[in-house]
Amino acid sequence: MDHSPLEAEIRVRIQKAGPMSVRQFMSYCLTHPDYGYYMTRDPLGRTGDFTTSPEISQVFGELIGLWAASAWHLMGQPENVRLVELGPGRGTMLLDALRAAQVVPKFRQAIVVHLVEASPVLRKRQEVSFGALDVPVMWHESFEDVPEGQVIVLANEFVDALPVNQAIKQFNGWYERTVEIDNAGSLAFGISDEQIPLFEQMLPPQVRDAPIGSIYEWRSEHLGLAIGQRVVSQHGAALIVDYGHAQSAVGETLQAVGGHAFANPLVSPGEVDLTAHVDFQALALAAERMGARTFGPVEQAQFLRNLGVEKRALALKAYVPREKGDEVDAGVQRLLGEGRGEMGRLFKAIAFADPKLGDLPGFEPVP
Ligand SMILES: C[S@@+](CC[C@H](N)C(=O)[O-])C[C@H]1O[C@@H](n2cnc3c(N)ncnc32)[C@H](O)[C@@H]1O
Repeated sequence: MDHSPLEAEIRVRIQKAGPMSVRQFMSYCLTHPDYGYYMTRDPLGRTGDFTTSPEISQVFGELIGLWAASAWHLMGQPENVRLVELGPGRGTMLLDALRAAQVVPKFRQAIVVHLVEASPVLRKRQEVSFGALDVPVMWHESFEDVPEGQVIVLANEFVDALPVNQAIKQFNGWYERTVEIDNAGSLAFGISDEQIPLFEQMLPPQVRDAPIGSIYEWRSEHLGLAIGQRVVSQHGAALIVDYGHAQSAVGETLQAVGGHAFANPLVSPGEVDLTAHVDFQALALAAERMGARTFGPVEQAQFLRNLGVEKRALALKAYVPREKGDEVDAGVQRLLGEGRGEMGRLFKAIAFADPKLGDLPGFEPVP
């Protein structure tokens, strides 16, 4: 049977070196330099595989722009600020944010945009989108490459695309979940031969007595540590919006999506999007270890309402033709709603800041 070039490469790797971790598999599928999902396409929008909040409504990016302006104010209105976006996709969120930021001209003038983007295809698209702007823009391979200086970091649906490890609990301990080739010659999930030493002791307390067969997912702490260190040492702030759970918990959330429908994560490597829920507790613990103050997580609906989403939608509707007004309503409903396919509850916002900054907006408790 013919396999895609990426599947063929994964198979050779497994045949030569044994089963690979779920993290390695996800990493191959998403960012393999030649065949990785993000490296070869623009997956966003109706004709792609999935749609994100900024692509659903311009109100999302505009509110994020006003949030960033408030953070800049709390930072003491520096003359130069690095507005960093991790995984900007088509750049839609930041373009909307920069437009909204025009109401605070000094903030707008202080901005240098730094985009952290792995995909050459999306980067080309961003070069076109940002080319006409009067704001300097730089691209980087990783967050660590963003030069020193005061930062405001933004990320929407970026962390869910970072690879996860999975461990599975057996009667005598936890084992890494792997991808292997089964007796029928298909890619299949497996379990490593060796137990992960001391795994139980490293787990959050609420996970330790999980039943046998439970799956626990975790990501490298690297990003949380780097963001925490950066906002504390350079008096900055970071806002991360994504889907996931507020508290660390067991459960398999790895999922594949292609053409707006769920798919089998092991079939068509590199041709479908792979994501896993963000563990907001783990992210916060890493950032706090570097001294950062955490705000939230709060549900996306609460965050956007706190920032005045309803008022902003009304103002937008006053400017657009009537039929467009219905689109504005439908978009905002999708961002705030709790029904199937709606993002108000599953998506959450979390922020990290230098503790000296004061209270960031958006995280006020529900009245
Ligand atoms: C799900 S898309 C989100 C796009 C955008 N933030 C939005 O909300 O529309 C994930 C983005 O992260 C980028 N990305 C994924 N993995 C990355 C990595 N390891 N390093 C840098 N960028 C990455 C993708 O190329 C893409 O731009």
